[in-house]
Amino acid sequence: LIFDPELMQARDFYRVMLSAIVPRPIAWVTTRSAAGIDNLAPFSFFNGVTSRPPTISISVGSRKWEEALQFKDTLRNIEETHEFVVHSATESLAELVNRSSEEFPPQVSEIEMLGLEPVPSDRVKPPRLKACPVALECVLDQVVYIGDPPLTGLVLGRIVLAHVEESVWDPESRSIDVTKLRPVARLGGQLWAPVREAFRQERPDWKAKGFQAE
Ligand SMILES: Cc1cc2nc3c(=O)[nH]c(=O)nc-3n(C[C@H](O)[C@H](O)[C@H](O)COP(=O)(O)O)c2cc1C
Repeated sequence: LIFDPELMQARDFYRVMLSAIVPRPIAWVTTRSAAGIDNLAPFSFFNGVTSRPPTISISVGSRKWEEALQFKDTLRNIEETHEFVVHSATESLAELVNRSSEEFPPQVSEIEMLGLEPVPSDRVKPPRLKACPVALECVLDQVVYIGDPPLTGLVLGRIVLAHVEESVWDPESRSIDVTKLRPVARLGGQLWAPVREAFRQERPDWKAKGFQAE
């Protein structure tokens, strides 16, 4: 099959794209507006960009509000205050992650609404969530606006502090143990997927195999 975005409704191509780019990690993001209202929402157009300096990307779109298109609260808050916290979405929190995607008006804090406990962050103003074993405190690097007129803001953020609960940390590999974190990922349509096991592959190293460079 061939799908040409030029010949299709954007909504239909979106389905193809969403089900082709899988599984996607989910950033569960807290922000604070200039007026001091805390916001929480999930984003799966999310990834690491580079570790030098530690940078992540989140792509935040627009929504229709009272017949007008406007950027989502997360993007507006990041534009206003330049700070946010990214939490890894986990299987045990998946239902709350989904509920936080409901498009509440800006004056509603999803954190309170869902009965989640906020704890103060160390380096940024938006709080982090006590329930989440991994939280990355971030400051805005830049927003790349996409589309004409721009309907999406690709947020590039610098991680200034990482919080990792000891219960998910593996000191031997100096990494987070995925079988303990149990992250949840997003697939196409309304599908989600847990990550419950992992397999290991050593990175191939042609020098170790005795090949000679010319
Ligand atoms: C798992 C999941 C992933 C999502 N990923 C994105 C995304 O990458 N970009 C986006 O604009 N919206 C995404 N959404 C929708 C937003 O979460 C939703 O529009 C939310 O209400 C935005 O909240 P805000 O206006 O408080 O920022 C996703 C929703 C879910 C449930």
